[in-house]
Amino acid sequence: MEKILVTGGAGFIGSHVVDRLIKKGKKVIVVDNLSSGNEENINNSNNVRFFQIDITDSENLKALFVQHKDIEGVIHLAAQSKVTPSVENPLEDATININGTINLLDLSNKHGVKNFVYASSAAVYGHTETLPIQEETPASPLSPYGVSKYAGEEYVKAYGRLYGMNVSALRFANVYGPRQTASTEAGVITIFIEQLLRKEQPVIYGDGEQTRDFIYVDDVVSAVISCLINDGPSTHNPAFNVSTGEETSINQLLTVLCDVFNIDFNPNYEAERPGDIKYSYLSNEKLTSKYQWSPKTQLGEGLKNTVDYYQFK
Ligand SMILES: NC(=O)c1ccc[n+]([C@@H]2O[C@H](COP(=O)([O-])OP(=O)(O)OC[C@H]3O[C@@H](n4cnc5c(N)ncnc54)[C@H](O)[C@@H]3O)[C@@H](O)[C@H]2O)c1
Repeated sequence: MEKILVTGGAGFIGSHVVDRLIKKGKKVIVVDNLSSGNEENINNSNNVRFFQIDITDSENLKALFVQHKDIEGVIHLAAQSKVTPSVENPLEDATININGTINLLDLSNKHGVKNFVYASSAAVYGHTETLPIQEETPASPLSPYGVSKYAGEEYVKAYGRLYGMNVSALRFANVYGPRQTASTEAGVITIFIEQLLRKEQPVIYGDGEQTRDFIYVDDVVSAVISCLINDGPSTHNPAFNVSTGEETSINQLLTVLCDVFNIDFNPNYEAERPGDIKYSYLSNEKLTSKYQWSPKTQLGEGLKNTVDYYQFK
C-alpha cells in the first residue's frame, strides 16, 4: 500500500487531505508540530501515524525518513500560514517556510520520493492589475509570508529541475471549509460565521465590493491528490493556481451566508483597511486542462457545510 507523508496534517487543509488519502486506501504519515493545528483533526484510522516533529528539525525528520523508507509521495502543507505574524516576525516565518521546505525537499530527494506537492499561495502575486491572475503573472508578494511561500516554490522547482523529481507548487486562492480557524488567510468566512452564530452584526471593511476567489477545501484536496497521483507535471513551470476562477464580492458572500442562516443581510460597514487588495480572482485553466480536475462545490453548498460544522461541533 502506497505511503504518503503529509506535513501540516493536523491543520485545516492538511487534515482534509489525510481524510481523502485514507479513503483512497493509502497509508499516511503526518508530521506536524501542532503550532496552529490540532491533534483532534487527525484521522484516527490505523493507517495514519502521527509524529509531532517540527519541519525545521532536520535530525528528527531524517530519522523519520530512515524509519519509513517506503514513502512514495510528500504533500507539504506545514507552514507559518498567516500574513500578520510574518510581518511581525519575518525571520521566524522564513525559517519555517523556507528552511523547513528545503529540509523536506532534500530528505525526499535523498530517500527516492517520487512526487512532491507543495502548498504555495495566491499571496505570491501581490497586487495585480490584470485579472484573472494567470500563472505567468509576475510574482510580486506584498508580505514576508508571500515572499517565503514564493521562495519555497522556487526551491521546489529547482529540485524538480536538478533531480528530476515530480514536483508541483499549488497556489491556493482563499480556501474555506470545516476546521478552518478564524485567523487563517481566508478567515473572513469563519469570522462572519462566528459573528452570525453569536447573533452579532457582521463587520465589512470598505464598501464590500472588494472581490476574492473562495474555494471549498474538498476541491483543493482533489487538486492536491490529482497532482500527487498524476506523476507530476512535465512542464517547465510546475506552478498551478488552485481556484474557482470566479470572483465573489464580500457583499455577495455575506448575502449567501445570511441565506444559509435564514436572516436579513444587515452588515456594519467600517473604514476600508489600508493595503487591502480591491479585486482578485485566479484563472484555473492551467490545472483544469492538465488534469481531470475542476472545482465542484458551489459557494452556497460549501458555506452550508461550513456553517453546519461550526453549529454542531
Ligand atoms: N487556508 C488558505 O486559504 C490558504 C491559502 C493559500 C495557501 N495556504 C497554504 O496551505 C497550507 C495549509 O494551510 P492551512 O490553512 O491548512 O493552515 P493551518 O495553519 O491550519 O495548517 C498548517 C499546519 O502546519 C503546522 N505547522 C506549522 N509550523 C510547523 C512547523 N514548523 N513544523 C511542523 N508543522 C508545522 C501547523 O501546526 C498546522 O497544523 C499552508 O502551507 C498555507 O501557507 C492556505
